[in-house]
Amino acid sequence: SHRSTKILRAPIICVLGHVDAGKTTILDNLRQTHVQDNEAGGITQQIGATNVPLETIYKRTEMCRKMITRKDDFIIPGLLIIDTPGHEIFKNLRSLGSSFCDLAILVVDIMHGLAPQTIESIELLTKRQIPFIIALNKIDLLYDWKSNNKENIELVLQEQSQITKNHFEKRYNDIICQFAQQNLNVALYYKNPDPNEFYSIVPTSARSGDGMGSLIALIIEKCQTTLTKRLTYTDELQATVMEVKSNYGYGTTIDIVLINGHLSVGDKIIIAGQEGPIVTQIRRLLIPESNQELRVTNQYQTHEKVKGACGIRILATDLEKSMVGLPLFVARQTDEIDYFKNEIETI
Ligand code: GTP
Ligand code: MG
Ligand code: NA
Repeated sequence: SHRSTKILRAPIICVLGHVDAGKTTILDNLRQTHVQDNEAGGITQQIGATNVPLETIYKRTEMCRKMITRKDDFIIPGLLIIDTPGHEIFKNLRSLGSSFCDLAILVVDIMHGLAPQTIESIELLTKRQIPFIIALNKIDLLYDWKSNNKENIELVLQEQSQITKNHFEKRYNDIICQFAQQNLNVALYYKNPDPNEFYSIVPTSARSGDGMGSLIALIIEKCQTTLTKRLTYTDELQATVMEVKSNYGYGTTIDIVLINGHLSVGDKIIIAGQEGPIVTQIRRLLIPESNQELRVTNQYQTHEKVKGACGIRILATDLEKSMVGLPLFVARQTDEIDYFKNEIETI
């Protein structure tokens, strides 16, 4: 078969939506984790990054592989998924997450429809021209829903009783109107007349896993077709600081998203600090185990060199006053230190 000579990096997928729409639970279902259960008040308060390997994607799309053109020959190396909080006070984190993602999942609670932070998320995404797929979540709450997570969701919907179908249709039609009020055309992914004009909807239940295979398969198909140019790996460094953390027995560390390029132990990095640019050297590069979220896990692998796209924890001295949401630079030559310090001061 034809193989592209260009190497694709992991697509960065940002999950956005109103508080409690089920964003973290969708990721828990994909990763087979329990992050949501341990959140204070069930509310996400930070931005999270998870490296999801191909094996997980293969396993979770088994029943929907026919949706993927290159089903036996994936050209992406995995996904880097970014969870964001839906609570209204965290607009800065939603904005940050959407600033460096390639594709978003907009999660909408089928019972509640569009809510203020759904609309805010739509505005962020359309402003930045980020493509997105709508997960119409909590379908298990439809009247008399019969769960089935072993089939694609088109079939699972077809097999529901007439009364369940009617309930679905009613909620679905309401929500289509709400999207139309935002000037967006949306359609069920398997009825989408033109993906360039209509945003696709995948009905899901994060709780039972119904529709999750279809959602992931659609993401993979989009990444491996219309997004390949954007996803072509380049060695030009592109990285953003997401979190500053202390008390991990490591002193203060930073969590970053490496989008393109590579980082190595010993690299001289320049980042923004509260009292001016910080120049320090990478001591260790920690990558969470596959499917473990960077913000919560204690399980890491140490690496000498890491390529984008990847969520990474960096150990170095002098990180206490680091600022989030801003780029990380590497000075490969000494004279680049001043150049990047200046770059940071003029942001
Ligand atoms: P924030 O990050 O705080 O904005 O919320 P979230 O969008 O991440 O939602 P979360 O995953 O915290 O889920 C909120 C509540 O909805 C939890 O009690 C979940 O168990 C529940 N929930 C999520 N998905 C589903 C679903 O598909 N069906 C049902 N019945 N409940 C769900
Ligand atoms: Mg959450
Ligand atoms: Na929540």
